[in-house]
Amino acid sequence: MAKKTIVITGGAGFIGSHVVRLFVTKYPDYKIVNLDALTYAGNLENLKDIQDQPNYIFEKANIVDAEAVKAVFQKHNPDGVIHLAAESHVDRSITSPLDFVYTNVIGTVNLLNATKELWKDNYEGKRFHHVSTDEVYGALGDTGFFTEETSYDPHSPYSASKASSDHFVYAYADTYGLPVVLTNCSNNYGPNHFPEKLIPLMIHNIINNKPLPVYGDGKYTRDWLYVIDHARAIDLVFHEGKGSEKYNVGGFNEWKNIDLVKLLCQQMDEKLGREAGTSEQLITFVKDRPGHDLRYAIDATKINKELGWSPSVTFEEGLSKTIDWFLSNKEWLENVTSGDYQNYYNKQYAE
Ligand code: NAD
Ligand code: TYD
Repeated sequence: MAKKTIVITGGAGFIGSHVVRLFVTKYPDYKIVNLDALTYAGNLENLKDIQDQPNYIFEKANIVDAEAVKAVFQKHNPDGVIHLAAESHVDRSITSPLDFVYTNVIGTVNLLNATKELWKDNYEGKRFHHVSTDEVYGALGDTGFFTEETSYDPHSPYSASKASSDHFVYAYADTYGLPVVLTNCSNNYGPNHFPEKLIPLMIHNIINNKPLPVYGDGKYTRDWLYVIDHARAIDLVFHEGKGSEKYNVGGFNEWKNIDLVKLLCQQMDEKLGREAGTSEQLITFVKDRPGHDLRYAIDATKINKELGWSPSVTFEEGLSKTIDWFLSNKEWLENVTSGDYQNYYNKQYAE
């Protein structure tokens, strides 16, 4: 394996920490630089098992700060960038859209500029991998899938900011010849998931016997993928994906929110030794999310056919592993749900 230096942005976050761990352990000859601002969603606890590895370095920097980004790039001279740093929660984007413009749009352009400047026109062996979401495609009705050819139609401030960042990545490829590749993935779940998103929020509330807030009628549908399978897909596309192309990544695993929450309740009742049906009684239908996208579903045929990727675990297995992780990492959960989280939660779920 050739020696490489790769900057992974957002490596202290949920998905980023799994990508960093995969790269640090699988590629001992690579130098992996984790560039992260450590916002409320970034947590170095996520990486404590690999933090002392000789091929791992952490750099605290905010991608909105162009000079700070440039300094990290000049110091480490990366051959590759895997860009995950983002504001990632739709509900927060509804209350604070500008934060999403700064980090997701301006931050991405700062990274593109730093990369372009560093690599000049010598692109041999170089690659900028932009990690994006299926939410850029908008919402589906009851049938159909998002393919790589689906037009962009974002609805939330989050998806609008991610769509904008995707367009900038293509613009830098088209205008300056920057070697890029993109992945657009469906909803992830797994260990280290911050409990503002559906699955970890419900796990946390079930543990604490708190109401389980299901938005609207609960019939909204998402495609769920185990986070380690997303990290495996990023590894494959980064190394073997065709230049300037995008790959959709998804689990072929659609669930209506209400059915998913019921499955979680069943698995958790068993694991917590509660009588069957106990946790389901906590389900509470609450005010809907404004502009709530009805359904996301990914057609992941391209990455499967071209690169041989497919999910490695079933949803039931992945969910069971996820619950086990949260039950055996109660301190992690307590740390991230104290302080600011309580203010966020009380405001978001005031009803
Ligand atoms: P996350 O919110 O858990 O983590 C984001 C990370 O980025 C944190 O470590 C945070 O500290 C860092 N960060 C935020 N703003 C920053 C800034 N200005 N400068 C430097 N670092 C900053 O997010 P996640 O769920 O791990 O998502 C990672 C990426 O994957 C995002 O780009 C997201 O859009 C994309 N994605 C997420 C999902 C999902 O289901 N979570 C699905 C598809 C794509
Ligand atoms: P989320 O995990 O926020 O991911 P996204 O909005 O990016 O898909 O939400 C997943 C689904 O769960 C979405 O349809 C909104 C719904 N949801 C609830 O019903 N209750 C909640 O408390 C949360 C956070 C989400």
